[in-house]
Amino acid sequence: MASAQPKKGYLSLVVFIFVVSCATAEIVTFENCGSKSYPVSIDIHSCAEAPCIILNGTQENVTLTFLASYTSSSLADEANLRIKTAKVPVDVIPEPCGSGSSITCPMEASDTPYEFNSTLLIPTDAAPVDAYLELKLLDYIGEIMVCYRVGVRIFREYPS
Ligand SMILES: *[C@@H]1O[C@H](CO)[C@@H](O)[C@H](O)[C@H]1NC(C)=O
Ligand SMILES: *[C@@H]1O[C@H](CO)[C@@H](O)[C@H](O)[C@H]1NC(C)=O
Ligand SMILES: *[C@@H]1O[C@H](CO)[C@@H](O)[C@H](O)[C@H]1NC(C)=O
Repeated sequence: MASAQPKKGYLSLVVFIFVVSCATAEIVTFENCGSKSYPVSIDIHSCAEAPCIILNGTQENVTLTFLASYTSSSLADEANLRIKTAKVPVDVIPEPCGSGSSITCPMEASDTPYEFNSTLLIPTDAAPVDAYLELKLLDYIGEIMVCYRVGVRIFREYPS
C-alpha cells in the first residue's frame, strides 16, 4: 500500500506532463513588451519553437490568447517586424473588432482568456535575417493592452 502511493502519483505526473506538452505543442516563447493587461500565449501555427522560421511573401496564422483586465470599447492591431533598427509593418487580418474576428467589441474585463485568431501577411521585401515579430493589441485610447515579441528568422525559402 505504502509503495503503491508514490507510483500512482508518479504516473499521473507523467500523464499530466504528456497532456500539457501536447496541448502547448505550438505555443512559442515570447517576451512581454509593455502590456497593460496580460498576454497568455502566442501560437504561430507553423512554428513549434522560437526563433520561428517565416518566409517573405507568405501568410502566417497566429492565435493570441490574453486576459483583458479592463473594459475597452475597441481594439486595434499593430504588427511589425523589427530588423535591427528598422521597423517593417505587417498587415493583420481581420481587424480585432471587425467582421470575421473571434473577438466581439466592446470587450469586457474578464477572467476568461480572449482568443484572437489572425492571419499575418509577411511583406515580400523582408530581407533574410534574424528579426523580432512584435504584435500589439491597442485599446480604445491607443494604449497597449497586450504586446508579444517573438524571435523569428526570415528566409526567402525554407533552408535545406
Ligand atoms: C522574397 O524576397 C526576395 C528578395 O526581395 C524576392 O526575390 C522573392 O520573390 C520574395 N519571395 C516571395 C515569395 O515574395
Ligand atoms: C489561415 O487562416 C485562414 C483564415 O481563417 C484560412 O483561410 C487559411 O486556410 C489558413 N491557413 C493555414 C495554412 O492554415
Ligand atoms: C482559433 O483558432 C483555433 C485553431 O485554428 C481554433 O481551435 C479556435 O477555436 C479558434 N478560436 C476562436 C475563438 O474562434
